[in-house]
Amino acid sequence: MQQIVILGIETSCDETAAAVVSDGRAALSNIISSQVDTHRLFGGVVPEVASRKHSEAICAVVDEALGAAGLRFGQLDAVAVTYGPGLVGALLVGVSFAKALAFALKKPLVAVNHIEGHICANYLENGGQNRIKPPFAGLVASGGHTNIVWVSDYGGYEILGSTRDDAAGEAFDKVARALGLGYPGGPLLERLAATGCAQAIAFPKALANSYDFSFSGLKSAVLNYLNKCAMSGAPVNRADVAACFQKAVVEVLVEKTLAACAAKGAKRLALAGGVAANGALRAAMAGACLERGVELFVPPPVYCTDNAAMIAACGYHLFRKGVFAPLSLNADPGLEF
Ligand code: KG4
Ligand code: ZN
Repeated sequence: MQQIVILGIETSCDETAAAVVSDGRAALSNIISSQVDTHRLFGGVVPEVASRKHSEAICAVVDEALGAAGLRFGQLDAVAVTYGPGLVGALLVGVSFAKALAFALKKPLVAVNHIEGHICANYLENGGQNRIKPPFAGLVASGGHTNIVWVSDYGGYEILGSTRDDAAGEAFDKVARALGLGYPGGPLLERLAATGCAQAIAFPKALANSYDFSFSGLKSAVLNYLNKCAMSGAPVNRADVAACFQKAVVEVLVEKTLAACAAKGAKRLALAGGVAANGALRAAMAGACLERGVELFVPPPVYCTDNAAMIAACGYHLFRKGVFAPLSLNADPGLEF
């Protein structure tokens, strides 16, 4: 059977990414141009700067993705692009580029929801590890979203739980900032937490009896703790604070996700999103899944954080169903899951 080869394009935040994926599984290339060094100067993503940087990088990134895959544009079957959610100016660069390319090549355009793309990272081949197939439960934990989902089929989703306030990654970033760590905060906080004692301070874990999350209470508890120490002149062990905060987040993510798995009778669970790159979460989830007889799937870190291979993998299943986007496609910054 002939292979379906899809170019994925992702520009929803601060990564300009392009990848070529064959049959929704094999990443023939996965190019990511990160703007992190630029935004670090400002302590966070500056939307206007992100758009400009995407415009500057997109041609070279797409060329590189094609070159690394050893393909010419004419050999592509479709162009898949993230159209939301994300920063509107950033999304528009990828969407405009993808529309122009699809028009010029006379190939279908496929519009991909970024959060759905994160889940589809689990369909990518990964050093021979078994790939997951629906049905399964999923946890998407990123900078903008935290969802427990039931994936009934390719493209079939039931949301079981969501965050009522901050996303998990957002909480990592805000606490990291309060601890004086740089940007992006998640990985830096994880590194600091590795040197701290996770039993030193008891931070609250909110929202019992629900699959929904709330991280703003935990974030405020950490900020209050730091303020109190500053006012009383008590010394702060930043590594302990990082370790205890991370433990609280990880415990809530693990408990709620596995409770949802039990309620659904799910035998398989897939992690996704930037926070799934966190080693403490991966280890705790692996231990809990082993105990409860749930098979765990976790993409390698490069497929957890923003990338275009996951967008092409998601686009493949839409392509197979004939779900194509018109050339009037617009960016949708508030697109729901
Ligand atoms: O999925 P992603 O790359 O972009 C969004 O769609 O938001 O997720 C980025 C988020 C950021 O909040 C970042 O701090 C967090 O994922 N993150 C981590 C780690 N790596 C990235 N959080 C905790 N530990 C990490 N190792
Ligand atoms: Zn993302």
